[in-house]
Amino acid sequence: MSSKNLVLLHCMAVLLLVRSVSSSQDNAFLFHVCSDIEGTFTTKSPYETNLNMLLGSLSYKAPPTGFGLGSAGQSPDKVNGLALCRGDVSPADCRSCITAATPELRKRCPNNKGGAIWYDFCLVKHSTINFFGKIDYDNKFYLYNVNNVTDPTSFNAQTKNLLSRLSKEAAAVKKLYAAGEDNLYGGAGSGKKKLYGLVQCTRDLTSEACTACLDGIIGELPNCCDGKEGGRVVGTSCNFRYEIYPFVSSS
Ligand SMILES: *[C@@H]1O[C@H](CO)[C@@H](O)[C@H](O)[C@H]1NC(C)=O
Repeated sequence: MSSKNLVLLHCMAVLLLVRSVSSSQDNAFLFHVCSDIEGTFTTKSPYETNLNMLLGSLSYKAPPTGFGLGSAGQSPDKVNGLALCRGDVSPADCRSCITAATPELRKRCPNNKGGAIWYDFCLVKHSTINFFGKIDYDNKFYLYNVNNVTDPTSFNAQTKNLLSRLSKEAAAVKKLYAAGEDNLYGGAGSGKKKLYGLVQCTRDLTSEACTACLDGIIGELPNCCDGKEGGRVVGTSCNFRYEIYPFVSSS
């Protein structure tokens, strides 16, 4: 079995969502995916009991630090999962995101052994596969702001530059998270306008794997958000976001 087959959810989920400009700090639902290849379970089965136990434990494990990883039950009914909150989100907001996300995920993937759900503030996923420490290259989606910048060449380069710098910062800290800003120059700005960015990995990854994951999604900038005022590539192992307005809580 190749390592590619070991990733959580094999189906390639790439979604193009058009979102209008917004500076809201709302915790919106973004996307979900149910795994077809991992199969299904029946109601009241041991798998369902383990899944509910795991999701319950993640919702109290994750909020204090913003990350929780765990398993419940024994093979063949063992379920693995994680919950990750955005690096700037408070424990209280983290908790409310996860406690909203877990029943929503159960509702959207009622009988799937594997699934994932994303909100602005958190990610929750579960799987039969022991994915801990492995990069999931397959499940990801794009979001972008419909507004075009006036100088895409200069803007794209500055976006890549900021996200690459943040990627190095994230890989150097235990939290595997970094947020920051740059002044925009050239056609994109006179140094008065700013570009804001965020990158984050799940904390089951090593620093090296985090870098590899972020390099991969930053490489998708031309596909996701060429010349767009804002964009994101969001997966189950890492994600980035950039905007021309501040969107993270200062910390
Ligand atoms: C941005 O550019 C694309 C491609 O040229 C175009 O189709 C789209 O309408 C533009 N968006 C806006 C909001 O003007």
